[in-house]
Amino acid sequence: MTTSPQTIAQSIMKTFRVLPTVPAAASRAIQLLNEPDVDMGAVADVLLSDQVMAARIIRMVNSPLYKLLQEIDSVRTALIYLGPQRVFEIILTSCFLELTDTSSTSPLKMQHCWEHAFGVGLVARKLSSYGGNAAETEQAYIAGILHDIGEVILSQQRREEFARVLVLARERGLDLHQAEMEVFGTSHAEIGALLANQWRFPAIYVDVIRHHHDAQTDQMAPLTHLIYLADQICLSVGFCCKYEHPEQRASEVYGLDLADIEQQLKAIEGIKINDFRASLPAMVQQVKETVDSIYH
Ligand SMILES: [Fe+2]
Ligand SMILES: [Fe+2]
Repeated sequence: MTTSPQTIAQSIMKTFRVLPTVPAAASRAIQLLNEPDVDMGAVADVLLSDQVMAARIIRMVNSPLYKLLQEIDSVRTALIYLGPQRVFEIILTSCFLELTDTSSTSPLKMQHCWEHAFGVGLVARKLSSYGGNAAETEQAYIAGILHDIGEVILSQQRREEFARVLVLARERGLDLHQAEMEVFGTSHAEIGALLANQWRFPAIYVDVIRHHHDAQTDQMAPLTHLIYLADQICLSVGFCCKYEHPEQRASEVYGLDLADIEQQLKAIEGIKINDFRASLPAMVQQVKETVDSIYH
């Protein structure tokens, strides 16, 4: 009898030396922001209790990703200018950066992982915006940021095997999910979903994390399918974690079948992506500038 990827993922998780955690201030702030009458003063107090996170939020707010007219220098001002939804999004992004900010312990290059995560977040938000539902558009961004969280954690926790995954992926032209299945018998999708459950992320994001590499795209939940497509688009423009050097990624730039992607989007929720192709180069630039501004 073969062991299922989910069972293998559970036993791999048991071997993790320290289970990665989402900062306490972040999970408390996320709870507060989910309440019907958001008390922004209380949210600010929680965030200010964690200096590292407060500093990270200020940096994010002033990065090209948000491009406000004036420089924001305090968490309280950020909350007033941006409102709860944006702040929620920034907290989640900060958590992701926090979790992945230990580049020396992973064979993956974190700058590329961040580019991939931001890229998928921005592209998913753009695609979703054509559908016209603001709440779904925000979810798309958050899901994009989080979808590969398992990859970062797996690469940090099982460095030697993950180095083999990278060699295999580069030599045989596999994607990381396929190479992980060969090496581990499970993948970052399963590991990420188990972690997201432990962190009590909303179920809609757990589904994206678990199913974004499934073979049957027509059976995916709409948000998961959207992230799947944003993932494909980002890989084709070179936002991919599996390479070490920029020149290794150059050959993949813009080899994109937009007609097929358009058809799949129509099937999701009648989304029509009028000017998407024209807006893609600017988005790619924005991702690079954002990652540069927070990475150094
Ligand atoms: Fe993935
Ligand atoms: Fe991905």
